[in-house]
Amino acid sequence: MNRVVLGFLLIVAVVASSNAGPDPHAKPNLNPIQTDKPLLVRQTKNAKLYTVGKGDDAFNVVHVWGSPYEMGFAQGTILKEEATKFVNDVWKYLEDTVVEAINSTVPFFAGWFLKDVADFGLDLALDLEILATEKYTGKYFLDELRGLADASGLSEQKLKRIHMLGEITKGTCSMFGAWGKAVPVPGTVLQLRALDWNVDGPFKNHPQVTVYHPDSSGDNGHDFANLGWTGWIGSITGMSSKQMAISEIGIVDADDTWGQESRFGVPFTYLLRDILQFDYTVDDSINRIANAHRTCHLLMGVGDGKLGTFRGVQYSAGVSNFYDDKNMLPQGDWHPRIDGAVYWSMGWQHKSFDTVFARQLQKYHGNITAANTIRDLVSIIQSGDSHCAVYDLNQNYMYVANARKDGASGPLQATIEHSFALT
Ligand SMILES: *[C@@H]1O[C@H](CO)[C@@H](O)[C@H](O)[C@H]1NC(C)=O
Ligand SMILES: *[C@@H]1O[C@H](CO)[C@@H](O)[C@H](O)[C@H]1NC(C)=O
Repeated sequence: MNRVVLGFLLIVAVVASSNAGPDPHAKPNLNPIQTDKPLLVRQTKNAKLYTVGKGDDAFNVVHVWGSPYEMGFAQGTILKEEATKFVNDVWKYLEDTVVEAINSTVPFFAGWFLKDVADFGLDLALDLEILATEKYTGKYFLDELRGLADASGLSEQKLKRIHMLGEITKGTCSMFGAWGKAVPVPGTVLQLRALDWNVDGPFKNHPQVTVYHPDSSGDNGHDFANLGWTGWIGSITGMSSKQMAISEIGIVDADDTWGQESRFGVPFTYLLRDILQFDYTVDDSINRIANAHRTCHLLMGVGDGKLGTFRGVQYSAGVSNFYDDKNMLPQGDWHPRIDGAVYWSMGWQHKSFDTVFARQLQKYHGNITAANTIRDLVSIIQSGDSHCAVYDLNQNYMYVANARKDGASGPLQATIEHSFALT
């Protein structure tokens, strides 16, 4: 997996900004997939930086090699300016928005976090969250952050603080896993991760795929690709060299089947990264999740192209329930079980989105492909405003869309799809 072949296509995924449901007049995305090769920009010890896409649409793909510390150091060296800008922009964004959010009804930040900010201020609220999770954080993760800090000159504590983002915010996203009778090629798995999270903040300006190549000497896992932002090492979106990938949805509409939430445990963005970096099969991930000190209400998805299957997970401190196509919940005419598919849109029981999602999946049942998903599924459900990935776990392709950057042209929401193969 030393070589990344990238292309890009345009995707028109309009934001699902209202609670009502997708726009009934949503149009298919007819932009072609492009297959331009990534451009090598520069290289340093243990890092190679490429860009994919052109002009406004360009974004970084960086490969890093070595021990956890070395990989962090390599990213902090080759992308020193960009990482510094991202971290400082995020910090400013938090300062600017969090106080305002205390009295607003927009559920971007978790309520308990806003209360901590009101009581103690932003720095201390985040430091409390670091304390609540550090015990459950992998050493490799902290080593990589230290490397990033040492090379970039960013403060390690500030880096740790912005890595709490996943725990303190909620994104109402969408996912599916499709396999078996749902897909045209027997034994293959296709998976969607659509992130509806934030298009106001600085995140859209710093998209990055980081391809990790941990050295094989230690216990540092295997190669994987992480879609996030420059200077961010948690995982919300990515696929691994074990033909596995992750999806995730924040839940704000939990019912009584959901257990308690907790602040004390492993941040879910670190757990998702562990799945990419260390798990060999979906069974490893099931064990990992079942045995983890879990925190907040989430739906997760893990696909495995080797075993030809996918599991959705109802995830909280109190429960971990694993769903396939035979036992998927909730059940209703708005969320029918579909042979070879597990799916949710915008939460646990968002009927208006799930109805459209089910209809589009049924329309392509037996023929659910990346091309059909991009053209006529994501664009019609209108999910994935921040970014969006479609994983073809058998060809090792990840198709990626990112929201329009500030000052760029084109639609605001996830407009550019880059696809790349890890070969
Ligand atoms: C939030 O609202 C309360 C009550 O209206 C007010 O006292 C407080 O100053 C407001 N806080 C902020 C940060 O706007
Ligand atoms: C699968 O979808 C593609 C694209 O829409 C279409 O060209 C093809 O005919 C479909 N195949 C089947 C068997 O329906």
